Amino acid sequence: MVKAIATPNIALVKYWGKKDGQNMLPMNNSISLTLDEQLKCIADAEFADEQDEFVVNGKPANADAYRVLEYVRKTFDTKKYFKIISDTYFPVAGGLASSAAGFAAIAFSIAKLLGEEEGIELTITEISMIARMGSGSACRSVLGGAVEWLAGNSDETSYAVQLVPFEEIGLVDVIGILSHEEKKISSRAGMQQTVKTSKLYLERMKTVGKRLDIVRKALKEGDYETVLIEAMKDSDNMHACMMDTKPPLSYLNEKSLETIKRVNMLNEREGRIVCGYTFDAGPNAHIITESKNAAEAEKLFAGIADEIIVSEIGKGPRKIL
Ligand code: PMV
Repeated sequence: MVKAIATPNIALVKYWGKKDGQNMLPMNNSISLTLDEQLKCIADAEFADEQDEFVVNGKPANADAYRVLEYVRKTFDTKKYFKIISDTYFPVAGGLASSAAGFAAIAFSIAKLLGEEEGIELTITEISMIARMGSGSACRSVLGGAVEWLAGNSDETSYAVQLVPFEEIGLVDVIGILSHEEKKISSRAGMQQTVKTSKLYLERMKTVGKRLDIVRKALKEGDYETVLIEAMKDSDNMHACMMDTKPPLSYLNEKSLETIKRVNMLNEREGRIVCGYTFDAGPNAHIITESKNAAEAEKLFAGIADEIIVSEIGKGPRKIL
């Protein structure tokens, strides 16, 4: 049996839409930071006798999870069945995307099992492709530091690469838990609807390439003001595309909007960009800032966050057994 741990990631330039749902190919590249092990998923993988067994957080797994196992058999030419048990260990229940950490841990544990027991050694690129089949953004969580998912145009060309290792990034993600509710519309269904109905999304597709170039360069150079400015713009743009979807999608709540206001006020008061907010498909706020400003960022959540997690940049998955 193999046990592996993986962590979520927060996207600075977001993925919201697929060009190929079958192969899980995104419309655009995306860039994220992998988070530390305060938020973690642990997956156990072993071979099963006659059929796959898959349990996620104590419940039978969904079709996406089984698709991952089919993909592994087809792609790496094995007839093995798997028994997978995956659990999420987040300080709070619900509200924080856990599928990225979950599928990264699952992909990593399967890869190590195949290596140890069958002599099938998988590269990190291949592990990223396995994770992608479970949940798109999971393909970025198989690496630490700053990571880019290359959209590609086929199964073998869509995977994540590391841009900057974790120890070279001086940023933290100060996460404010603003709601414990599970989202009502899944990312998968929501993004499909956006691609189908939003005119603004067409504009996004014209400009996202330029933003990726700017953020990639700024991360490599440690130009964090630029990173934060672009991360805020990209979050605003993705949420505007969500609102432009028919019927409109809105994942933010009053407290999310209050966070945006407070971040802007702080930056204005300081006359420079100290903090940058970003939101995925949910109301919980991620304030990205340099490590030295973490306490300042935490104060912004006064009276609105149920819990605050200050996450450093993570190293990526590892085998723990
Ligand atoms: O990987 P999914 O299907 O959970 O989609 C996640 C999309 C966002 O979190 C909203 C953005 C991103 O790039 O992580």
